[in-house]
Amino acid sequence: MSYSSDQTANSSIDKITSSASPHDDCQPLNDHQAAKNVPHGVPGQPVLHADKLSKQVTSGERSLTILHDLSLSVAAGESVAILGKSGAGKSTLLGLLAGLDTPSDGELTLFGQALSRLDEDGRAALRAGRVGFVFQNFQLLPTLSALENVMLPLELSPHAGDTQTAAKWLARVGLGERVNHLPKQLSGGEQQRVAVARAFVTDPELVFADEPTGNLDPDTGAQIIDLLFTLNREVGTTLILVTHDHALARRCDRCLRLDQGKLTAFVPAAASLEEGTQ
Ligand SMILES: Nc1ncnc2c1ncn2[C@@H]1O[C@H](COP(=O)(O)OP(=O)(O)O)[C@@H](O)[C@H]1O
Ligand SMILES: [Mg+2]
Repeated sequence: MSYSSDQTANSSIDKITSSASPHDDCQPLNDHQAAKNVPHGVPGQPVLHADKLSKQVTSGERSLTILHDLSLSVAAGESVAILGKSGAGKSTLLGLLAGLDTPSDGELTLFGQALSRLDEDGRAALRAGRVGFVFQNFQLLPTLSALENVMLPLELSPHAGDTQTAAKWLARVGLGERVNHLPKQLSGGEQQRVAVARAFVTDPELVFADEPTGNLDPDTGAQIIDLLFTLNREVGTTLILVTHDHALARRCDRCLRLDQGKLTAFVPAAASLEEGTQ
């Protein structure tokens, strides 16, 4: 099932259901974006809907509210940038939206399924092959080669053991000559690219990336960004990116800012990009 271009463009606008709004500095949909192919997802339905998510953690004897009453909808084929200062809760939010972490309160609906009704195995089964995640600290397994790390998500799919697909993705991120390297034999930027290849190897509908260019030099970062947006445009991969790279944020359909406040995690985006965002 696929969207027409017009449906895609319309559904990409004003999907936020909280107080956040598109940022002035975020480019509106242009012809390039409106022409995106969106084979994934059901027209008119969000791939993800977060309803009043809150996250509290306990640190020592104190309870810390990281996210509070945060709501967000993301439509199939959208690209969304989340900016905010260090400690604002961006990584926590991404983990919740991907179903990797559970909220203290609120509900997350992913691909039409309420996650609170699923146990951990059920959530993993829902994500398998459909959600890719680029962790801020990569989370590569140290004893596995680059190729084996990229192959891991395939193990839960009909493509288990498909070395060719994994090698193709390593080549796409410029690591065709590094397939047998262990993570410790790779630079930080190379590890980050392995993490990107691993996130995309199952041809997922939805990819979360936590500062995906944070360890890359400008040229390599630009190549990875181009790859992300090519996939977003051509395959319809929905992208939710945490970044402090304004150039990357500006290429997204929507930019949102998470406030560093302890009680309020989601704020109107006005004037956010002028502030420090890391
Ligand atoms: N499990 C935890 N226990 C205590 N504090 C946490 C925990 N997870 C995150 N935090 C705190 O929550 C805040 C948000 O963290 P994080 O989501 O990593 O922020 P960001 O990605 O925006 O830099 C930080 O102040 C961090 O120290
Ligand atoms: Mg973070």
